[in-house]
Amino acid sequence: MNRQLLRLLACPYCGGSLQMETPDVSADAVVSGTLHCTKCAEAFPISNGIPRFVPGDTYVSSFSFEWKRWRRTQFDPEESLRLFIASTGKHPSELRGRLVLDAGCGSGRFMDLVARAGAEVVGIDLSFAVEVAAENLGALDPRHFVQADLMRPPFRRGSFDFVYSIGVLHHTPDTRSAFRQLAQCVAPGGEMSIWVYPRRRLADTFRHFPDRVNEVISQDSSFRLPERVQALIRPVAGVIDWTSEASSGLQRAVTTRLPPRWLYALCHAAIPLYYVYRIPLFYPLRLLTKVAMHPNPEWRVLDTFDWYSPRYQWKHTFEEVRSWYEESGFGDIRLLPRAVAVTGKARRLAPVGD
Ligand SMILES: C[S@@+](CC[C@H](N)C(=O)[O-])C[C@H]1O[C@@H](n2cnc3c(N)ncnc32)[C@H](O)[C@@H]1O
Ligand SMILES: [Zn+2]
Repeated sequence: MNRQLLRLLACPYCGGSLQMETPDVSADAVVSGTLHCTKCAEAFPISNGIPRFVPGDTYVSSFSFEWKRWRRTQFDPEESLRLFIASTGKHPSELRGRLVLDAGCGSGRFMDLVARAGAEVVGIDLSFAVEVAAENLGALDPRHFVQADLMRPPFRRGSFDFVYSIGVLHHTPDTRSAFRQLAQCVAPGGEMSIWVYPRRRLADTFRHFPDRVNEVISQDSSFRLPERVQALIRPVAGVIDWTSEASSGLQRAVTTRLPPRWLYALCHAAIPLYYVYRIPLFYPLRLLTKVAMHPNPEWRVLDTFDWYSPRYQWKHTFEEVRSWYEESGFGDIRLLPRAVAVTGKARRLAPVGD
């Protein structure tokens, strides 16, 4: 842990300042020690150079498994850049010299982009993925890692110029409440961008971004549906969404209860299914049993595991997410053409969430 991180940290329970005690320092970094709250006397250990504000990985153990198994699979700078821009509306170069929070950093693929672009970035994750991210970002500086729960972020209010969270908030017990907690980390005048899983994805894409419909339907760039077929699909988009959400929900009721190793083995079905699902005749199967359609087989297994394993997986509409920004006092709210990615600017310090 870099000592500079201390200026941003606060007790997740009472907001009091933290004091470092008995630090064991090596090459200027704190390897172990304790952070004591000066207000409520809570204590938080620092181990392996990472401050720990939670006793373990609680309901996100599937993510500890995931990121320890696929430590660098998704470290593809081009793909990360494309996803980062689509999910945040920002190019990393705009963040040079800014203080940035990656909320739910996983193995650190987006932190890597942001740190290389010259931002000071803090990665927080509830799972042991923070350890993987810390290893992956090794020598890049300044970057910081914290193991903590977004529902109780251990930061001083209004610390960050830019907060982003890509594919994370819907994995907490309550997405809106996680959003409200996170909003408090943004400095007045700062910005926040989030991407969460879409509900009614196809219908909403027809409504807000009709030019992206093909992308949503096909899931892979090589398969294109003619305009007239799209016109036939439009009136039944809501039914298609409902069918795929319901079948996925039923399957997840089983898969989230499987031991991770079994599910991991099962997800290898994504490797051959990719070829079957690309045959237009079998397209309806994609709605009934979702598998990742990434051309890289290892990535397919990872993404399929990522879909079927997490305990919580909520889905939201653009309207819902927009309303969260509004109630936290954000302005300049923009819907981005990746369902559901939304960005906004903090007009003032966000109110304390419920
Ligand atoms: C699908 S992964 C996304 C990781 C990263 N944003 C990316 O796209 O590569 C979701 C991450 O959110 C983290 N997460 C879920 N609930 C969390 C919480 N309450 N607090 C902090 N992190 C959480 C998980 O541990 C996991 O690493
Ligand atoms: Zn405290």
